[in-house]
Amino acid sequence: MLERLQGLRSQAERELAAVADLGGLEAWRVAFLGKKGALTLALRDLGQIPSSERPAVGRLANEVKAALEQAYEARAEALRRSALAESLTRGAIDVRLPGRLQALGYLHVSTQTLREIYAILGQMGFHVLQSPEVEDDETNFQLLNMPPDHPARDMWSTFYLNRPGMLLRTHTSPGQIHAMRKYHPEPFRVILPGKCYRYEQVTVRSEYMFYQVEGMAVGYNITMADLKGVMFSFARQIFGPERKLRFRPSYFPFTEPSAEADIDCILCRGKGCVICKDSGWLEILGAGMVHPAVLRNGGYDPDQYSGFAFGMGPERIAMQKHGISDIRLFFGNDLRFLQQFA
Ligand code: DAH
Repeated sequence: MLERLQGLRSQAERELAAVADLGGLEAWRVAFLGKKGALTLALRDLGQIPSSERPAVGRLANEVKAALEQAYEARAEALRRSALAESLTRGAIDVRLPGRLQALGYLHVSTQTLREIYAILGQMGFHVLQSPEVEDDETNFQLLNMPPDHPARDMWSTFYLNRPGMLLRTHTSPGQIHAMRKYHPEPFRVILPGKCYRYEQVTVRSEYMFYQVEGMAVGYNITMADLKGVMFSFARQIFGPERKLRFRPSYFPFTEPSAEADIDCILCRGKGCVICKDSGWLEILGAGMVHPAVLRNGGYDPDQYSGFAFGMGPERIAMQKHGISDIRLFFGNDLRFLQQFA
């Protein structure tokens, strides 16, 4: 019996050493320590040996049982550890690698400027109205007092479309017609922001695509003084009180009288540069009292109503607010420029 137990022990230890995984370990446990395992069966036979040998055999049996149970636990622990280590290396992430930075979006500098303009004019009672970028010749020119072949059309080099009579609006002024026809016969104040297109040479001071914000107020006793008050108040708020605004006579077919407003050029501090064409001033808007013919085209009787209108360039305004010396930067998509306004 003693040999049987010793043999059992060394066989069990040999097989345990060869066990490769937790599945194999469980099979080993059932084979040796299980209810019908080899050791359990050997202990059952203990009753059949002579009583004189029993104490020595019993001692050895307990010793073998304890040793195998201990070996089993140790092997189980070792296998669990290596299984964990293996699963960790299989799904390993190299935590020393730098992460990829998620870029945060922000508003384009033109959009930021547009929103500032809305806020300032909004407080003066102007609300935002959208009007189309694709227009017809009639709304972009004729209803604004420029019949076909009118020489003033030369002020707006035009992208014509394949459809006869259709074009990309050269300015936001056709929005005046849409606004008047929408609100007639009520007095109103609106701003009409949006993109405009001109078939022109791109330079540091002019682009073929740019934003404008048209403004229009129509009512009973509106005068040039109202226009001037709104423009100066606007300029003070957007540029600050230390900047100078100049209002000078001009000509537009759809206003009479007409004016233009210039801001003192911050890029050269008045000394003269390419942006201000060496004048020390940069034109930021055209304006005037709405021409009677235009009021009539919108459905308003010029004997009863009057109004003013203006059209400003947000990019020109942004250039003078932030000291941007090239209008091409706005839509050049160079992040090094755009990120400065994040
Ligand atoms: N539409 C003109 C332009 O693009 C600007 C302008 C001038 C708008 C006078 C107006 C205005 O509303 O009254 O150059």
